[in-house]
Amino acid sequence: MWEAFLCLISLFVIWVSHWVYRWVHPKCNGQLPPGSMGWPVIGETIDYFLPHSLYDLSPFITKRMTRYGSLFRTSLIGQRVVVSTDPELNHYIFQQEGKLFQCWYTESFFKILGQQSLMEHQGVIHKYLKGLILNLVSPENLKQKLLHEMDSTTRKFLHSWANCYPTSVDVKEESANMIFECFAKKLLSYEESKASKKLMENYKAFMDGLMSFPLNIPGTAYHACLKGRENAMKVIRDIVNERKLASKNLHHDFLDHLLEEVKKEETILSEEFVISMVFVLLFATYETTSAAIAIAIHFLSDHPSIVAELTKEHEGILQARENEESEITWEEYKSMTFTHMVINETIRLANIVPGIFRRVTKDVHIKGYTIPEGWIVVVCPSVLHLDPTKYKDPFAFNPWRWEGPELHAGSKNFMAFGGGVRLCVGAHFAKLQMAIFLHYLVTKYRWTNVKGGDIIRRPGLAFPNGLHIQVSKRHK
Ligand code: HEM
Ligand SMILES: *[C@@H]1O[C@H](CO)[C@@H](O)[C@H](O)[C@H]1NC(C)=O
Repeated sequence: MWEAFLCLISLFVIWVSHWVYRWVHPKCNGQLPPGSMGWPVIGETIDYFLPHSLYDLSPFITKRMTRYGSLFRTSLIGQRVVVSTDPELNHYIFQQEGKLFQCWYTESFFKILGQQSLMEHQGVIHKYLKGLILNLVSPENLKQKLLHEMDSTTRKFLHSWANCYPTSVDVKEESANMIFECFAKKLLSYEESKASKKLMENYKAFMDGLMSFPLNIPGTAYHACLKGRENAMKVIRDIVNERKLASKNLHHDFLDHLLEEVKKEETILSEEFVISMVFVLLFATYETTSAAIAIAIHFLSDHPSIVAELTKEHEGILQARENEESEITWEEYKSMTFTHMVINETIRLANIVPGIFRRVTKDVHIKGYTIPEGWIVVVCPSVLHLDPTKYKDPFAFNPWRWEGPELHAGSKNFMAFGGGVRLCVGAHFAKLQMAIFLHYLVTKYRWTNVKGGDIIRRPGLAFPNGLHIQVSKRHK
């Protein structure tokens, strides 16, 4: 009896030590990139998520880059991971999208975004879905369908910010409301002020738990997040159901277009998919673009000379018009050279998306190393954007650096919007919205920062105490 027990114990110890050994020395048909797998299960996750300064590269990355070079192995959120800060490998990953590498985010992230998001599809289906979205946000459609609405909503919001002077506004939150209002109208003719079940409110609950530990029991942020998602999805589902009952009333919005597609015979698009897509699109749009606007305000506040140059450009546009009060035209938007430089510089330095994740589908051999099938690779755009050999004095906010032609080499030097076939579909939208906002801000208003303004990376960009500004009418 005693012997059997001892035997079991020793078997268990052997099993555990074998498991730990395998954790520290993972199987590989070749040479793994250097690095450490950290603790069993948690790996080096805690280090990865440690908050750090806005004007710094992640210490997690720099420490390992100095020790191991541009390619290293680690373990995050229970996964075996290779981090790539190597421009060549990054480029290769984008080229091999859907072949050697597939879009991958954590299971809890997929759960939040919905089981069938765009991210999970490859090849022709992915292309088809992306095409549907472009129907709303390609440059041609932005010009035809969205510019007018974006212009008037932006004016309206800035006007209301100035009207509440001297009360301050939180730029991130208020621009999120602004973008939400405009985009929700175009997407599904939704108006928060007129609706009984509030979509935006549920998104806020959703957002709070998005980056939380995935523990789904009542009381946790993750639970509230899933609940928020469920409620928001229900609001959208109700809208879809109403439309089915009154199918003659066309709304001429994106949802109408999608529901038309669902009716087609050979389509892969289901109603549930449409609801999920509308949900994700709305969120992706206001969350990212409002962060970009808030951080632009942050950078500009420290650089009056750049604000002066911007103002000059936009006053030039007003002077060239017949009527100063008319809307921004697409031609004017295209002519905003300096503004586009400011936008690029903002997005470069902001690094809104800290990591792009892919799963390796077959052993990959690169630079003398092997990345085994099933591992995750993480591309870190910030390392490129803050590389002093690519961008001189990389932590300086300097829009004029974009005057030189050498930065216009596509995703090799700039991958804030990703690269390859998964390049962000919303990039044109985000840039247009930023330009419209800057136009009205510098020509009609002044602002001062009054509260908050701490910005950190954990490693995603975060505004822990907001960025509160006072906006007042500008007198020429
Ligand atoms: C400054 C704002 C934005 C930034 C920095 C940004 C960044 C990114 C990045 C890095 C990716 C690639 C993800 C990957 O490869 O795994 C991506 C994809 C995507 N973005 Fe954005 N984005 C922004 C705005 C938007 C907007 C406004 C929309 C909505 C129209 C949007 C919708 C999407 C979608 C649907 C994808 C997935 C594309 C695919 O899988 O093919 N994004 N974005
Ligand atoms: C902004 O960056 C993109 C991507 O590299 C580039 O194609 C574009 O020309 C840049 N625009 C300006 C005005 O620098």
